[in-house]
Amino acid sequence: MEESQKQTLIETAIQARLKAYAPYSQYRVGAALLGKSGRIYSGCNVENASFGATICAERTAAVKAVSEGEKSFQALVVATDGQEPGAPCGICRQFLAEFGLDLILILVNLNGKKVETTLAQYLPGAFGPKNLGNE
Ligand code: THU
Repeated sequence: MEESQKQTLIETAIQARLKAYAPYSQYRVGAALLGKSGRIYSGCNVENASFGATICAERTAAVKAVSEGEKSFQALVVATDGQEPGAPCGICRQFLAEFGLDLILILVNLNGKKVETTLAQYLPGAFGPKNLGNE
């Protein structure tokens, strides 16, 4: 992945974070998902007074992409404001695994800390489409 493309994704995630609706946790998360088409889908967390109805930034971005017709992804950037970059929660890991474990994950905080990994590393032994006979 080109460095300039990575930088664009990081900036998109940081901007998306500003749109977070997080009145309960005050924890804002931004995501930027790069489709194999080259298109970028942004997302933020959207909380709810019924806390369990909250949607994470990563799933917001993925649902936007799939609903626009894109299901193959290259990379996902997640931006949070913390001492360390935040990792996708378990539900998001599972949700994203549906579309490929080879997804590059880039986790950043606002101080420029960056963790580069893959979804496969973050969800070993994943249950996925193959288990249901779907590839
Ligand atoms: N959150 C995300 O958006 N992504 C994650 O992977 C971790 C958690 C959100 C959900 C909730 O709005 C807030 O962060 C605190 O859990």
